[in-house]
Amino acid sequence: MDEHNEHRAREYQSRGVVPFWPEHLLKELVVGLVAVAALVAFAHFTPAPLGPPADPGDWAFQPAPDWYFYWVQSFFDVGGYYWSVLGLANLDWILMFAIPTVGVLVFMGVPFIDRYPERRLLKRPLMLGILLVGLSFFGYFTANGVYTHAQLTKAEPLAIYNASCATCHALGTLGNQKGVVDLNGKYIYPPPLTYVGDIMTPAQIKKQLLSPVGGMPNLHLPPAAVTFMVRFLSAQK
Ligand code: HEC
Repeated sequence: MDEHNEHRAREYQSRGVVPFWPEHLLKELVVGLVAVAALVAFAHFTPAPLGPPADPGDWAFQPAPDWYFYWVQSFFDVGGYYWSVLGLANLDWILMFAIPTVGVLVFMGVPFIDRYPERRLLKRPLMLGILLVGLSFFGYFTANGVYTHAQLTKAEPLAIYNASCATCHALGTLGNQKGVVDLNGKYIYPPPLTYVGDIMTPAQIKKQLLSPVGGMPNLHLPPAAVTFMVRFLSAQK
């Protein structure tokens, strides 16, 4: 060990810290590599299934990321709204590109910016603050995304009912309460859907939507709309 290294070692020892390289970073690298290897093995042996192919005609489909990416969507939704309120819509590259890039760079730079040797979190108010701000950021926008998505999912079946079913079927006090004249001029009374979950199984409801019997027309609902309606109607009890 040359004099310089010896001096450094003594200095680290007297300050009660370990050098960033190799002691600290090497451990991180090894742990990181093991984690990546585990992920690769996991992906190889339990491949995730793909969803159905994208269908541009499926108007009821609600594009949504996996929940752990809700924060991204939600951040750009909310951020985009206030960005345009501020009149910055033409400068959206700042919101979409510059701010995230700076954020990631700051994040990557933290070990180099924060060289304070104290290891107890409570004694590092600045870093603790940044950590809490970060966690609040992800927490808030994830929760916001979950909420928004739940609202959309909740509103969708009613929207489909109003657009495609309400002219014939009653649903509680909504929709047609009187019956309709069918294509043959015959007066029919389509059954109310108010308690349809009690008398039909999800499979029966799905069958009625995909290949209707009785005076009901085939509405050619796209797959996402069928999924929404089956779930929604099964819950009408
Ligand atoms: C043009 C009128 C009409 C429209 C529009 C219509 N239906 Fe129907 N539907 C009927 C008729 C008539 C029946 C009764 C069929 C029979 O005689 O079994 C029926 C039956 C059903 C049944 C079986 C209910 C039961 O109690 O037997 C379900 C479920 C249903 N419709 C769902 C829907 C949904 C969901 C929509 C909208 C996406 C829709 N219908 C749109 C006329 C309609």
